[in-house]
Amino acid sequence: MKAIQAGVIVACSFVSAPGAAQTVGNVAVGRAMAEMHCARCHAIGRSGASPLPIAPPFRDLHTRYPVESLQEALAEGVVTGHPDMPEFRFTPNEIDILIAFLKSLE
Ligand code: HEC
Repeated sequence: MKAIQAGVIVACSFVSAPGAAQTVGNVAVGRAMAEMHCARCHAIGRSGASPLPIAPPFRDLHTRYPVESLQEALAEGVVTGHPDMPEFRFTPNEIDILIAFLKSLE
């Protein structure tokens, strides 16, 4: 739990870094956020299997629904249909950044 909190603080300091508003910067920051929060279960790269086999690789998400539709789910804390997943809450800015990264995998 401590590690997760530390991760969130680091992610927030990334988000307020100058240049984070640019798309290219967003993708890199989004990847770092995904590595920190999501990669122990989900495959976040262009290839490879998820460490947790039932967690879908992020590159496949867009084949299920437009990744923009995750905006609301991320804002409310992704919990539904996510029994093994810790509850995340992200700021709107962090969500934009994560989604920019997810879109970069399409
Ligand atoms: C502890 C493991 C774990 C972590 C960490 C984790 N997930 Fe998941 N995630 C899962 C599992 C398991 C599923 C599949 C749940 C199911 O299909 O019932 C899933 C499914 C998903 C889905 C698909 C939901 C759907 O209904 O299509 C999304 C989107 C998602 N995760 C996003 C994220 C994001 C973003 C992060 C990081 C911020 C993350 N996950 C971190 C375990 C995890």
